[in-house]
Amino acid sequence: MPEGTVSFTAMEHGTKDDYVLVFAHEQHQIDTQADRVMDWLRQMEGPSPYQISRLDHVLQSATRAENDGADMETIVCALLHDIGDVIGTANHSQVGAALIRPYVSEQNWWVVHHHGLFQGYYWFSHYGRQPNERDLYIDHPYYDATVRFCAEWDQNCFDPAYQHRPLEYFEPMVRELFARTPSGEL
Ligand SMILES: [Fe+2]
Ligand SMILES: [Fe+2]
Repeated sequence: MPEGTVSFTAMEHGTKDDYVLVFAHEQHQIDTQADRVMDWLRQMEGPSPYQISRLDHVLQSATRAENDGADMETIVCALLHDIGDVIGTANHSQVGAALIRPYVSEQNWWVVHHHGLFQGYYWFSHYGRQPNERDLYIDHPYYDATVRFCAEWDQNCFDPAYQHRPLEYFEPMVRELFARTPSGEL
């Protein structure tokens, strides 16, 4: 962690040296992003209304993705697709998607961002909603990929009998993804 404190109490009075310090600190935070992601994944262990923990659910998702031949980036996206539950439950799809966006393809970001709506296909009817609300995007180039993600790597990943790989197995992939140079906005 870089040492020091800025001179200002309002940003308008900051000097170049102040901002060099601020951005050195920010770079440290970016460099340690994977540590926090791993902590958030561990927070998904514990009681849940499902027959398995939220962590076991995403481990099952990542294991199925790998078994189906997905590449490293897509496997990590499967692992992180519900990580928004930890820090922004009310819009967990969008929160998780925002976290990975600087490090992944547009398609992988889009799939995670929309997976909640697409997953509604399986349960919206119990709440008077249309299962096919996702067909709003039926002409979108990533529609089929998101349908497949939900069908094969999400809605079916609540099985206590499924033998998934442990979190430690996926940790090097998480670290490899977040070691990429992030793109995008502040
Ligand atoms: Fe989800
Ligand atoms: Fe999920």
